[in-house]
Amino acid sequence: IRHLLSGADLDAATATLVLDTAAEMATVAGREVKKLPALRGRTVVNLFYEDSTRTRISFEAAAKRLSADVINFSAKGSSVTKGESLKDTALTLQAMGADAVVVRHPASGAPHRLAEWVDGSVVNAGDGTHEHPTQALLDAYTMRSRLGRLDGLHVAIVGDVLHSRVARSNVLLLSTLGAKVTLVGPPTLIPVDISAALAPGTDVCYDLDAVLPDVDVVMMLRVQRERMGDSYFPSAREYARRYGLDGPRMRRLPEHAIVMHPGPMNRGMEITPEVADSPRSTIVEQVANGVSVRMAVLYLLLGGNNR
Ligand code: CP
Repeated sequence: IRHLLSGADLDAATATLVLDTAAEMATVAGREVKKLPALRGRTVVNLFYEDSTRTRISFEAAAKRLSADVINFSAKGSSVTKGESLKDTALTLQAMGADAVVVRHPASGAPHRLAEWVDGSVVNAGDGTHEHPTQALLDAYTMRSRLGRLDGLHVAIVGDVLHSRVARSNVLLLSTLGAKVTLVGPPTLIPVDISAALAPGTDVCYDLDAVLPDVDVVMMLRVQRERMGDSYFPSAREYARRYGLDGPRMRRLPEHAIVMHPGPMNRGMEITPEVADSPRSTIVEQVANGVSVRMAVLYLLLGGNNR
């Protein structure tokens, strides 16, 4: 594939190739050889119109470990604040020789538009409430390395599904890889048609306590208050009481089950510190795996046989 814009871009074979390549990258990164020459002479631009800690830093680390030249572009402090359009910004980056553009943007669909304007590969690093495919890949990688498989796993994705690009990409990718997904949250935060629109067979449940004993993975989502305006409902306290993962709820999970969160977390709201910092939590591991997975994505897009 030339671009990675959506979890739907990956069939099972391609997704598995990315995960296997990430496992090889992790082996290299953990040894004496910290850097590979694979992308020497290639230029990766990180184009971020929205704030990010994990995704931006891990794409930068991934590109540098593959010896690519990296240009970090943040909309704040650029000519975007003078009104320059996404297209003109993209053409400027292309003129500077970008082989890949990693883009985060508040508008759903912005990476798809960008892919029409630039010659290089475009990687969606999160667009509005739409998708975040490399997050889904690193989540799948983490599940596979902790639990040994993806096929047949039962994954509960819990919370603010309505605003979650992480949830959408995970539903698409996990369904492709044979996992069963149940979306859990208040009715106000789960789109009515999401199961049919994304992956038929995905269940929806409004009762977290009913789901917990039956899952292999519980993935807590951040409540995205910044995207809710004044319509935030239920209240933070009510939300934590009904949908927050605390110690007593965690202890109702099967013994082998893991707890995930893409970060950043609202500690005390969707997840308590006791759970976030427990041995069941893979939150820090997810961040580390993000570098290997993004190395694999950049390597396969830029260094593989498709160029
Ligand atoms: N999970 C994630 O996308 O985090 P950042 O917003 O910090 O990149």
